[in-house]
Amino acid sequence: MASDSPTLSAQDRAKRAAGEAAAALVTDGMRLGLGTGSTTAFALEAIGRRVREEGLRVAGVPTSFAAERLARQHGLPLLSLADLPLGPDEDGPVLHLALDGADEVSPALDLIKGRGAAHTREKVVAALADRFVVLADPSKEVERLGASMPVPVEVLPMAEPSVSREIRRLGGEPALRMGQKKDGPVVTDQGLWVIDAAFASGIDDPAALAAALSETPGVLDHGLFLGMATDVLIGEADGSTRHRSR
Ligand code: A5P
Repeated sequence: MASDSPTLSAQDRAKRAAGEAAAALVTDGMRLGLGTGSTTAFALEAIGRRVREEGLRVAGVPTSFAAERLARQHGLPLLSLADLPLGPDEDGPVLHLALDGADEVSPALDLIKGRGAAHTREKVVAALADRFVVLADPSKEVERLGASMPVPVEVLPMAEPSVSREIRRLGGEPALRMGQKKDGPVVTDQGLWVIDAAFASGIDDPAALAAALSETPGVLDHGLFLGMATDVLIGEADGSTRHRSR
């Protein structure tokens, strides 16, 4: 794994610090949400180590094929939503703790997610967790959402032109995300496409934008996560972490 490399960059050392601090929050018997991305990968690796070395018993719902593959690689037992206590008579937490990365974190702990096109499943899993802890390096902290990253919007392929028009009407610049090492658009784990909506000077009203995108026909979900994160762990290159909570 890259985390063992002596040549880890400063940013990767910060991501590892956040991932390892997140892994330390896990206690025996927890049902977890397993996020996607390079920062959460460090957490999955560290939780896997605790499973092997301490006999920690946990199981997690993966938020993507990528997270599922990593969890298997690190020996983490997997759950699907069908295994969870979601019946009408059930109470108690569905998931005790969801861990995931972010592309931007605002001062209010609102997020942009979806660089890896996994935001739809990530939102489903985060919404089911008692505690949603976001892991990040300092480059993800922003004053204003949207100033540095676009908002990913997962769409039905046939609705790409109409959703793009709506994004323009909302003040954004849409770009269909194209594959690397594949001709044509990125195809998500759901078989859909992603439009990245850029807002040159940031997003004036994230709640209004989120509502408008959610109401647009053909949109499955977007990468604005507002009021969802309970905690953010910011890792630093020296191995320390800062904890922000709402
Ligand atoms: C996946 O679609 C994303 O939401 C990631 O969680 C987010 O992009 C953070 O990824 P990194 O930890 O790789 O920056």
